Amino acid sequence: MGFESKTLLQLPSSGMPRFVSANDVKDIDALVARALTYKADPFMHKTIGHHKRIGLLFLNPSMRTRLSTQIAAQNLGMEPIVFNVGSEGWALEFEEEAIMSGNKVEHVKDAAPIMGKYFDILCIRTFPSLKNREDDYSELYINQFIKYAGIPVVSLESATLHPLQSLTDIITITEVLQNHKLQTINRKPKIVLTWAPHVKALPQCVSNSFAQWVNAWGKADFTITHPEDYELDEQFTRGAAITHNQEEALKNADFVYVKNWSTYQDYGKIYCNDPEWMLTNEKLSLTNNAKVMHCLPVRRNVELSDEILDGSNSIITQQASNRVWAAQAVLSEILQHQSA
Ligand code: CP
Repeated sequence: MGFESKTLLQLPSSGMPRFVSANDVKDIDALVARALTYKADPFMHKTIGHHKRIGLLFLNPSMRTRLSTQIAAQNLGMEPIVFNVGSEGWALEFEEEAIMSGNKVEHVKDAAPIMGKYFDILCIRTFPSLKNREDDYSELYINQFIKYAGIPVVSLESATLHPLQSLTDIITITEVLQNHKLQTINRKPKIVLTWAPHVKALPQCVSNSFAQWVNAWGKADFTITHPEDYELDEQFTRGAAITHNQEEALKNADFVYVKNWSTYQDYGKIYCNDPEWMLTNEKLSLTNNAKVMHCLPVRRNVELSDEILDGSNSIITQQASNRVWAAQAVLSEILQHQSA
């Protein structure tokens, strides 16, 4: 199909590739290169998905993930079918041995194998409850689909991670480094993930995932800054420098990734909503003229200021547009495995 035959995704013992975490990727740089190849030539493999169907299941809302994954699938010749299972489907039960006398109508054990017959690839978006950390971090929902669907599963954001977003983020950073000749700097680029205020308790998924991918990529000097009590799960952040001093963290940064998340230890709470943590041009002046990133959606002048969002350092639209190429690289990798 024009790419070398080496597979870029791990193959679990089930023999079924999946994409739910950075741990599912063998070679991040090669996957990034594939995505950028598609960006240059979106239809180079426009028939590899012919006569294949991809199911996009949404238990929660989405704009970018929903649209970009459909476009990616269509660029590869696949037929995407979107099912808003959270609002239009039968309420699903996920617990094993549940006595289904409540409001859950169908067990995932019954629904997922049927989807496995309808589709060739199954993609799922499911948010955490933010009520019980152990439940959310067990990733029951996506793991039950992996267990019972019998086809490759792709995460469109799960309870704790958002791998297509993070692959997009590494693609965008790579692209900026290439295009702006930052690769000539005689050091690793400094990437800062900074907490930002928000009015709602948000999941830790994007931040966990960004930390996991930057650490796995291993090509950056990586700092995370947040107020006290906003520590993330160490399994994702290990390897990063962590500080409560945002201004110190921002010094000499080449990229600043802005994101709110709720508390991890006392799970799913808002402790601090200090507007001082919102990134402004004054704070940006501490950086090495850093590019600013955010996964979107964003609350203007709460999480990020107008002056940053509308300013020349923002690469947020570029970042969101790269969602197509991230999805296309992953889907093509799975299709290539299926046709081998
Ligand atoms: N960043 C992201 O996943 O956007 P959506 O929630 O709109 O899909």
